[in-house]
Amino acid sequence: MYGPPMQRVLIVGASRGIGLGLVERHLADGWEVHATTRDGTSPTGSDVVAHRLDVTDATHLEAMIGALDQPFDRIIHNAGIMRGSRAEIMEVNAEAPIRVLQALLDAGLLVEGGAVAIMTSQMGARRGRTGSLGDYGDSKAALNDEFRTRADSWRDAGAIAVVIHPGWVRTDMGGSNASISVAESAAGITRLLDGLTSSQHGQFLTWDGRQHPW
Ligand SMILES: NC(=O)c1ccc[n+]([C@@H]2O[C@H](COP(=O)([O-])OP(=O)(O)OC[C@H]3O[C@@H](n4cnc5c(N)ncnc54)[C@H](OP(=O)(O)O)[C@@H]3O)[C@@H](O)[C@H]2O)c1
Repeated sequence: MYGPPMQRVLIVGASRGIGLGLVERHLADGWEVHATTRDGTSPTGSDVVAHRLDVTDATHLEAMIGALDQPFDRIIHNAGIMRGSRAEIMEVNAEAPIRVLQALLDAGLLVEGGAVAIMTSQMGARRGRTGSLGDYGDSKAALNDEFRTRADSWRDAGAIAVVIHPGWVRTDMGGSNASISVAESAAGITRLLDGLTSSQHGQFLTWDGRQHPW
């Protein structure tokens, strides 16, 4: 007897932190996991299909897409940075997620009705303010703005897409005083994506399933 086909997920930025937690969660849940790292090595071993992708490198993106021949049920863009020049932070956090996901959608690499999730941050929520949120906050606010601009066309492309605040998480970025573990954040994000419906398309959600104000 054969069971239903395995669901397939692509996790972008999976070498450590929340991305690695999402890899481990999806493996535990029985998914076929594709994971990207900057050097192309698998973060866990042979249980994952690894792809080389520095999200700022268009040739990596083109090569990865050329090597993919089946669409994913779920794509999660997790890669992000907090340190570096303003230009670097804007490129990795705001420009790359949109460029990577647009290219994957254009290549037909998401199933109809598949989920797309981008890791944003509560620090990118303007809540009506107009001043600077700092380089990191500004980058996530710019990501959120462009996500909202593309939401209609991504729906037309068959995606159910959301941006997610993963919580304040104990990672290299979040630091050891953060409030939740990688496993808690990854379990919450996975639970929310498992239950995602088309009525949630275009929303800003938190790791524990609440709507976040823009
Ligand atoms: N931790 C928190 O409390 C928190 C809160 C709000 C939002 N977030 C967001 O959640 C996401 C994950 O955060 P984290 O805490 O897990 O961070 P992290 O521990 O610093 O890990 C960042 C990940 O992004 C990857 N990455 C960075 N630049 C990249 C590039 N140019 N190309 C490809 N991959 C790149 C890193 O790969 P390398 O190992 O190669 O550097 C690593 O896998 C980020 O988008 C972050 O902004 C985190």
